Amino acid sequence: MFSLSFWITILLCLWIYLLWTRRKFYLLTLKFPGPFGYPIIGMAHKLLHREDVLSEFGYYIKQYGPTLFSWLGPIPFLIVSDPQLTQDILTSPHCVNKGLIYKAVDDGAGKGLFSQSDPTWSIHRKLLNPAFGHKVLLSFLPVFNSETAALLNVLKGMENEEKDFTQVLQSFTLRIATQTTMGSDVKDEECFKNNILLQRYQCVQETMTDMCFSPWLNNRILRIIFGKEESYSRAKLEIRAFIKKLIVRKLNEDSANTALPKDKNIFLNLATDLLKRGIFSWKNVEDESNVIVFGAFETTANTLYYSLMLLAMFPDYQEKAFEEIKTIFPNPGDFEVSYADTKQMIYMDMILNESMRVMSPVPLVSRQTSQDLKLSNGVTIPKGIQIALDIFHMHRSKSIWGPEAETFNPDNFLPTNLEDKHPYAYIPFTKGIRNCIGWRYALISAKVTLAKLLRNFKFTTSFPFEDLVFVEDITIKLEKAPLLKLQRRN
Ligand code: HEM
Repeated sequence: MFSLSFWITILLCLWIYLLWTRRKFYLLTLKFPGPFGYPIIGMAHKLLHREDVLSEFGYYIKQYGPTLFSWLGPIPFLIVSDPQLTQDILTSPHCVNKGLIYKAVDDGAGKGLFSQSDPTWSIHRKLLNPAFGHKVLLSFLPVFNSETAALLNVLKGMENEEKDFTQVLQSFTLRIATQTTMGSDVKDEECFKNNILLQRYQCVQETMTDMCFSPWLNNRILRIIFGKEESYSRAKLEIRAFIKKLIVRKLNEDSANTALPKDKNIFLNLATDLLKRGIFSWKNVEDESNVIVFGAFETTANTLYYSLMLLAMFPDYQEKAFEEIKTIFPNPGDFEVSYADTKQMIYMDMILNESMRVMSPVPLVSRQTSQDLKLSNGVTIPKGIQIALDIFHMHRSKSIWGPEAETFNPDNFLPTNLEDKHPYAYIPFTKGIRNCIGWRYALISAKVTLAKLLRNFKFTTSFPFEDLVFVEDITIKLEKAPLLKLQRRN
């Protein structure tokens, strides 16, 4: 009906309108270079597939420097991988709120701590912080120890052949997460035994990542058209039903006066107490529980898997780790790892840090400015800017970590090598106002697990480090997960 030139004129007018109304954002191009993209869509076409996101970001950082400005459709965004600007952002009260892309997390996991905006976020965070206090974490050690003992038994049946251990480790961390936060062991649940629950978590996570980078998928109708809705909504419902069952079980056991974890600061005890006092709604309890279990198990399983994989790829470092563990635990088999033992694992600390440096478990995080923010380089970024903090590329930056930045070497964490590093150059759990609530939990549980696994097994792989291809998926994934082989140690 209308000619092509009519549509081109309409698009041009729309673009000029956007340029005018958003001129304060466009002016940022003068301060931070970056790819301008096409009118209307910006760089959206480059970020359609989560497989491409990290490589595209890496390409632009190489081309324009550690901080760059671009457009995702009509949305202005900064990509930041400079430690000082990262610190400015993570410590600013004007950057507490997560970026627009976390709308997908609201939909997939629920509106909990992870994606909640201020002022609700600050209130919930204060209320839930005690669930990760030192005393509570110490009370988890028996669970970390007994579950790792059970894991050792599972692994004994999987020796001498290259295998993918992802699912075994995810089941392991899911069981730990539900016991420590929800006070329930899920080992006898049907959906856990047949691995359906893990598949559902994977489906929700993948769809959420797609929704983050293809914002139109936040629309249900469009998800139906693109064939993403059916499996996603079923997975969400099943996960919700599972979490709800754990909450109801806890509430019923309470009223029957039976004993579940007594500490009032165990996460679910805190949350249900807030419910009874009218501070939390039922939806708050469900959402926060969902988010805490989500946040706890997947990140920890990945970190374990990637640490073991990297040690298998770099056997000399694995031997050094083994020697350290052997001095603390001379005999193989099962042994109790205490908090004091974890403090003695100096080399293991370096290994964990280096694993999370080369393969940042959460490669990108996002914030938005709720007020204009003056950065320490003098540039003011306007209210309403979306910010992607590119932890992955900051952790692998040669200007920060030297010419060997992209390879694995735990010596990067020798105290002498850290002296010249900016405190925000290494932030696997982020830092500042809104860091990971479970960071200490994650480190203690990872050390217990790695000590027992590395004392009892040697890990090898035929997959070369150089062939790893990294994929953005909220938590980092590999295009192809290397298989690992276990051999028993004496
Ligand atoms: C190696 C393991 C882990 C890594 C690498 C990790 C990493 C992170 C990162 C980078 C963030 C910030 C995300 C953002 O700013 O958008 C975060 C937030 C969060 N993490 Fe973790 N995490 C780990 C383990 C855990 C565990 C064990 C729990 C719970 C038991 C947990 C619960 C959370 C929650 C609830 C948030 C949101 C905090 C808030 O905004 O107040 N995480 N995590």
